Amino acid sequence: MKKNPQDFVAMKGSKPIPMLTAYTCPIARSIENANIPVILVGDTVGMVEMGFDSTRDVTIEHMEYHIGAVRRGAENTHIIGDLPYGTDIDPETALTNAQRLIHAGADSVKMEGPNIQVIQHLVKHNIPVVGHTGLLPQTAKNFKQVGQSSEEAARVMKDAQAIWNAGAFMVVLEHIPYSLANKITSVLPIPTIGIGAGPDCDGQVLVINDALGLGDYWPPFSKQYAYISKTIQEVANEFSKEVESMKFPSNIISFTGTNRS
Ligand code: KIV
Repeated sequence: MKKNPQDFVAMKGSKPIPMLTAYTCPIARSIENANIPVILVGDTVGMVEMGFDSTRDVTIEHMEYHIGAVRRGAENTHIIGDLPYGTDIDPETALTNAQRLIHAGADSVKMEGPNIQVIQHLVKHNIPVVGHTGLLPQTAKNFKQVGQSSEEAARVMKDAQAIWNAGAFMVVLEHIPYSLANKITSVLPIPTIGIGAGPDCDGQVLVINDALGLGDYWPPFSKQYAYISKTIQEVANEFSKEVESMKFPSNIISFTGTNRS
């Protein structure tokens, strides 16, 4: 059954929360079949699927398209839709864009940074919000770890608390020292979801392309569970050879189509 924000808050401290990103229907279906309770349709789609150099090139229309595809693949999974760069600049603009993502199939929206008035405005209009602090790819000048100095650590802690106080039900902690993630996790009553933030968060999120080994590069804190890019190249090579040698198609192949279980 699809989980709601209260279910995730109740999981804090009792059951670690696994989260994966997805951008397409078949991948979302496989993730739902693996019983992952929450999918993030992140604006990372711009870099890992669309070939942009930055997430800043992603538009609200791109997000609607991908959220729709993921919803069709994962009807019973909580979907978080990312508000792309510039779509949450003020409370009214953010509300219009968040409503578009919800209409496209998201159950909640995620936004980067301690944009308190915007979070409060969305929550007031019954849109569940996931916060995001630490490294903020939409505005970061580089991808270095955030929160190493005591001043910066205090600022990240303050931002996480402000995001919670504004009404967010979950917060992503990206690329911060493990000790800082541990402190934030023990102070906040809402779940923290780490990416490059160590083992003490309430849950972990990975970009699906990184976990699959699908693409050209992976951040150092990710884990590559497979190497799908290599498999695709092997399949393409084999197919090419079989076409050239006229081994494919053969008479024994059925084209009736099957559903794999
Ligand atoms: O856009 C995204 O996929 C994200 C994750 C890296 C947390 O924000």
